[in-house]
Amino acid sequence: MEAKSLANKYKQYVIDMRREFHMNPEPSLKEYRTSKRIKEELDKIGVPYITVGETAVVGTVEGAKPGKTVGLRGDMDALELLEQNDVEYKSQNEGYMHGCGHDGHTAMLLGAAKILNEMKDQLKGTVKLFFQPGEEVALGAKIMIDEGVMEGVDEVFGMHLWSPLEVGKISVEAGPRMAATDIIKIKIQGKGGHGSAPHQGVDAAVIASAIVMNLQSIVSREINPLDPAVVSIGLLKAGSRFNVLPGDAILEGNVRTFNPEVRKAMPEMIKRIAEYTAKSYRGEAELEYIYGTPDVTNNEVSSARAAKAVEKIMGKQGVALFEKVTGGEDFSYFMEKAPGVLALVGCGNPAKQANYPHHHPNFNIDEDALEYGTALYAQYALDYLSE
Ligand code: NI
Repeated sequence: MEAKSLANKYKQYVIDMRREFHMNPEPSLKEYRTSKRIKEELDKIGVPYITVGETAVVGTVEGAKPGKTVGLRGDMDALELLEQNDVEYKSQNEGYMHGCGHDGHTAMLLGAAKILNEMKDQLKGTVKLFFQPGEEVALGAKIMIDEGVMEGVDEVFGMHLWSPLEVGKISVEAGPRMAATDIIKIKIQGKGGHGSAPHQGVDAAVIASAIVMNLQSIVSREINPLDPAVVSIGLLKAGSRFNVLPGDAILEGNVRTFNPEVRKAMPEMIKRIAEYTAKSYRGEAELEYIYGTPDVTNNEVSSARAAKAVEKIMGKQGVALFEKVTGGEDFSYFMEKAPGVLALVGCGNPAKQANYPHHHPNFNIDEDALEYGTALYAQYALDYLSE
């Protein structure tokens, strides 16, 4: 049998696993039950594995003939979110919810483990199954890579179920797909005093406000308009009382970029604007720039291979064109070690209430997407290893 028909055979298994994970969501890096269940399933399937860190699991499917190694990655953590869906498989761990679809990723990767294990006679090379914890805190991939899971891995393939994309479509375009995500913190120092006599102090609230406004000119005036970027301040803290002049203030924000050159230029631009703006109001500002996950950029060869794999499973009409997104993904750390592709697997369907954004308390997927994703994991590995 082929990957496609085996994915159909195991469709209900993957749905059942997804629902079980959905009912038992766990926070990032504390996926103990999930990790245990993955290992129990791999035992049943007959796929050997190792535990990496506390909750990561790496399964290995060894082909009959030697060859290259491909890593398939599925993440497993949930969110601190109170589920609002009224479904029989609703979260039983109140306050936590699989609101991003990672339950589906884990289930599909288990389905792929079954398929690849069954097809290992025709497999030339090795498939590593990366069950990754802590994606939502952007730490899981790093932990696994630091433990050496990418040693000897030639290619990586990841997936994200994607509700803005309709079920039956999969996007695997080459080039930038998700943004690099950095954090900025700006400490502002003024001088406190009485709110009725601002001339005696240095108002940190005014400085903070001016910095927020002036930062807007980075995207609108300093960066090439053909390079998309985001600079957003999400937190502004100053003051304690209506008639006390704030002597200090804090700003926190996030920076999103696709072009690594633009990313590199960001700290200087933000620092300059923060410091000189503060100075012009007689205050001081200090920038802390915290690098997060790099951009997710699909390799051209990998992307073409993935498009062919999608065609084999769903026909030409399955290959979607979908604009890149300003969200981030720590799959990019795997891509720093080996070429690869992140596929966005459409799971949106208003008829099944699967039309809420990711991280929404009503987020849900059209489970028909699971069969396609399961098949694609396996098909991609088979195609890559047979080249
Ligand atoms: Ni996610």
